[in-house]
Amino acid sequence: MLLTDDTFSRFSLWMRERTGVHLPPSKKPLLMQRLGKRLRARSLDSYEDYFEVLRQQEEEQERQIAVDLLTTHETSFFREPAHFAWLESLLQDWPAGTPLSLWCAAASTGEEVWSLAMTLADNLSGQTAWQVLASDVSLACLEQARRGHYALERCGGIGQERLRRHCLKGVEKQAGSMLIGKALRQRVLFRCINLDQPLPPIGPFRVIFMRNVLIYFDPATKNKVVRQATAQLASGGFLVVSHSESLYGLQEELKLVAPGVYRKP
Ligand SMILES: C[S@@+](CC[C@H](N)C(=O)[O-])C[C@H]1O[C@@H](n2cnc3c(N)ncnc32)[C@H](O)[C@@H]1O
Repeated sequence: MLLTDDTFSRFSLWMRERTGVHLPPSKKPLLMQRLGKRLRARSLDSYEDYFEVLRQQEEEQERQIAVDLLTTHETSFFREPAHFAWLESLLQDWPAGTPLSLWCAAASTGEEVWSLAMTLADNLSGQTAWQVLASDVSLACLEQARRGHYALERCGGIGQERLRRHCLKGVEKQAGSMLIGKALRQRVLFRCINLDQPLPPIGPFRVIFMRNVLIYFDPATKNKVVRQATAQLASGGFLVVSHSESLYGLQEELKLVAPGVYRKP
């Protein structure tokens, strides 16, 4: 099926208005491939017809499905391990009894947030209260993250010792998979939050992980998202972005203290 440049631009504008995600013309094949299955599922003959569906008031669920499909969810356990080593060193000096709240702001299917929860559980003293908020704009991702059920082949980054400590190994029908254990589950809250919208009152946080999401925004959106996130940081708190992202020129207030790690004074 054909997608005209004009219709592609309408989808692209819609996505930008809804999530801040910028889809340049080079993403046209990707959009066709990802939305093609919805055209078939809805028995529609053209991308134009599907766009008209998205505009109908009663189609909020379809709009959410389109967002799920048009966002990129690549992630893995302990991705960019230097940030977890940095977090461990922060936690080793954490004053016992000082509560720690962390926000994982583009949690995708959960690998990052469970990696963070494992790191906190392993490095904070039993007297320290801690909690993690995991959010994403994709409801389908959040559902998977909350389930905490993964194929073992995707768990390479965790390591055998941590797997034994924090996860339940699937048996019989569940062989070849693992489930995140109850102790970690009790610490993590899941919530659908669109970083491109005004944020609900969720902070302040000591640490915010916002990795591999800014790359999808144009400079103005990126600026707004970082400003809003910084407002959710406690003073002295840290904002962590991916090694391939930079806040250069965006938030003068933040000081770079390690690769991808910024501190609010
Ligand atoms: C590539 S994944 C990054 C996952 C994880 N942070 C990591 O580094 O492995 C990007 C995530 O950002 C989410 N995302 C995109 N736009 C968003 C928005 N406006 N608000 C919240 N999340 C968004 C996507 O749904 C996706 O799950």
